[in-house]
Amino acid sequence: MADASLPERPKSKSVKPLASLWPYLKPHRGVLAWAIVALLLASGSMLALPVALSKLVDKGMSAGSAETVDIYFVAFLGVAVLFGAFAAMRFYLVTWLGERVVADIRAATYRNVIRMDPQFFEVTRTGEVLSRLTTDTTLVQSISGVGISIALRSTINLFGSIVMMGVTSLKLLGLMLIAMPTVIIPVISLGRKLRKLSRSSQDRIADTSGLAGETLNAIQTVQAFTLEALNTRRYDQAVEASFDVAVVRTRVRAWLTALSTTLVVAAITIVLWFGAHQVLSKEMSGGELIQFLLFAVYAGVAAASLSEMWSEVQRAAGAMERLVELQQATPAIVAPAHPQPLPAVQPGANAGHVRFEHVRFCYPSRPESPALDDFSLAIAPGETVAFVGPSGAGKSTTFQLLLRFYDPQSGQMILDDVDIACADPIAVRQRIGLVPQDTVLFGTSARENIRYGRPDATDDEVEAAARAAAAHDFITVLPKGYETFLGERGTRLSGGQRQRIAIARAILKNPPLLLLDEATSALDAESERVVQEALERLMATRTTIIIAHRLATVLKADRIIVIDHGRIIASGRHEELIAANPLYARLAALQFTDGPAAAA
Ligand SMILES: Nc1ncnc2c1ncn2[C@@H]1O[C@H](COP(=O)(O)OP(=O)(O)OP(=O)(O)O)[C@@H](O)[C@H]1O
Ligand SMILES: [Mg+2]
Repeated sequence: MADASLPERPKSKSVKPLASLWPYLKPHRGVLAWAIVALLLASGSMLALPVALSKLVDKGMSAGSAETVDIYFVAFLGVAVLFGAFAAMRFYLVTWLGERVVADIRAATYRNVIRMDPQFFEVTRTGEVLSRLTTDTTLVQSISGVGISIALRSTINLFGSIVMMGVTSLKLLGLMLIAMPTVIIPVISLGRKLRKLSRSSQDRIADTSGLAGETLNAIQTVQAFTLEALNTRRYDQAVEASFDVAVVRTRVRAWLTALSTTLVVAAITIVLWFGAHQVLSKEMSGGELIQFLLFAVYAGVAAASLSEMWSEVQRAAGAMERLVELQQATPAIVAPAHPQPLPAVQPGANAGHVRFEHVRFCYPSRPESPALDDFSLAIAPGETVAFVGPSGAGKSTTFQLLLRFYDPQSGQMILDDVDIACADPIAVRQRIGLVPQDTVLFGTSARENIRYGRPDATDDEVEAAARAAAAHDFITVLPKGYETFLGERGTRLSGGQRQRIAIARAILKNPPLLLLDEATSALDAESERVVQEALERLMATRTTIIIAHRLATVLKADRIIVIDHGRIIASGRHEELIAANPLYARLAALQFTDGPAAAA
C-alpha cells in the first residue's frame, strides 16, 4: 500500500538515477557502439585538423613550391570531409538513440500508470503524472542522446587537445596550466551563482504557468464570479516577479561574459606573446604555434561545454528519478499469484450470483470511519436489486468494492462462488457492466465510444447495441452519423444522450452482472422514458444492482435494500417499506426525482 503513493523526495544531486537508463539503451547496444565509433572517428579527425594546418604552414608554405602547397591543401580538405561525414553519422545515430529511448520510457511509464488503483490517484495529481510524461521525458531525451554525445566528445576533445598541446610544446602547456586557475576559479564561482538564479527563474516561470493553467481551466467559474481583474493582477505580479529574476540572472551572466572573455583573451595573449618569442628564437615553428593555439581553443570549448553539460546531467538525473518512481509504483490491488478462475458463463445459465459477507470497509484516507460496516447481502442470479439511502450512505462504495478498486478490511465479496479477492481483478471486471452516474465519453467517434464496451465488436453489433439503447436515432442525425466526433469528454452531447451511449456500451458488453448508478439529474420526460425502456431491456436478462433515485425504478425492482451509515437497515418491496421503515418513507417522499407526490 505504501508503494501506491509518491512521497515528495528531496531532490538529490546524485546522477545515480541515470543508471536506470541502461535497460533502455541495452536493446540498442549495436547502434550505441556505432555511435561511439563515429564519435571517436569524428574526434580523431577534428584533432588531426590543426596538425594538418601546421604542416601546411611549415612544410607547404615555406617549401615555396606550388605543388607541395597543393598536396597539403588536398590532405587538409580530405581531413575536413572525413570530419564532416563522421560528425553527421554521430549526430544521426545519437539523436536516433535519444528519441528511441524516450519513446520506450514514455510507453513503459504509461503502461504502469494506467493500471494503478484509485488510491494512487487520490495522492497523485494527474497533472503531475502528465508533466512527468512530457517534461521529464524531454529532459531525459536531451541527455540520453545528444547529451551523451556532447559529454563524450568534449571529454575526448579536452584530453586529446591537452595531450596534443603537450606534444606540440611542453613549455607552452606548462604556462597554460599555470594561467588556467586565474581564469577558471572566478568563472566557476560566478557560474554557480548563475545556476542558482536560473533555477529560481525557472520556478517563477512555473508559477506563472501554474496560475494561468488553473484559471484558464476554470474559465467559466472565473467569469461567473467576475474574477478577471483579480486574476489579471495576480498574473501580472507573477510575470513581473519572473522578469525581475531574469534581469538579475542576465546581469550576472553579462558579468560572467565580460570576465571570462577578458581573462581568456588575456591568457591567450600572454601565451601567444611567449610563443612568439619562442618562434623568434627558433625554439618552435610558426606552424607549431598555430597548432598549439588551435588545440588550446579546442580544449577551452570542450571544457565550457562539459561544465554546461554537468547541470543538464543533474537535471536529467532528477527527471529520471521521478520517472523511475512512476514506473516502479505498484498498485495495491494485484492479481494473486494463482488466481482462481471464475466459472464459465453458459448462455442462459445462472451467472451473476453476488454475495456480500460481513463486509467492513474504510477508505484509506479515513481509516477510522467505515463506509461499509457488517454489510451482508445475497443477490440471486437474474435478480434486480435497488439500493436506496441518503447521500453518503455507502451505496457507490459497494460498486467500488465489487469492481475491486479497493479490498475490504474484513469480510468477503463472492461472485459466482469465487471470492473476488482470490480472482484476477481483470476477470472480475470483465464480468461486470457499469453504467455510471456520470457517463465519461472519450474524444473519438460515437461508434468507437460505444465500442469501448467490447473492443472486438463489429460495426453491426455496435449499431444493434445503439438501437437497443435507443441511441441509434439521435446518432444518425448527428452531422456524420456514427463517425461524428463527440468532443473531448463528450461535451457535444446532452446528459441523456451520453447516458444512452453508456447503456449501449453495457449492452454490447453483455455482462452477467450489471451495476447501474442512476443519474440524479432529472431528464426530460421523453428522454427519461426512452432511457428507462433501454435500461429495462438491459436489466431483464441479468443480475442488476441499481442505485435508485426514481420511484419508477424501485417499483420495478425485485427487492429494495435501504442503506444508511454503511449498513443495511431494511429490505423488501416498496409498499412494505413505506409502512415499516420511517427512513425509507422519508426518502421516498423527498429524494425520488420523479415526483415526491407519486410516493405519497
Ligand atoms: N475516495 C474516498 N475517500 C474517502 N472517503 C470516501 C471516498 N469516497 C467516498 N467516501 C466516503 O464514504 C462514504 C460513502 O460514500 P458513497 O460514495 O458510497 O456514498 P453514496 O451512498 O454513493 O452517496 P451519494 O448518494 O451521494 O452518491 C461517504 O461518507 C463518503 O464521504
Ligand atoms: Mg454515490
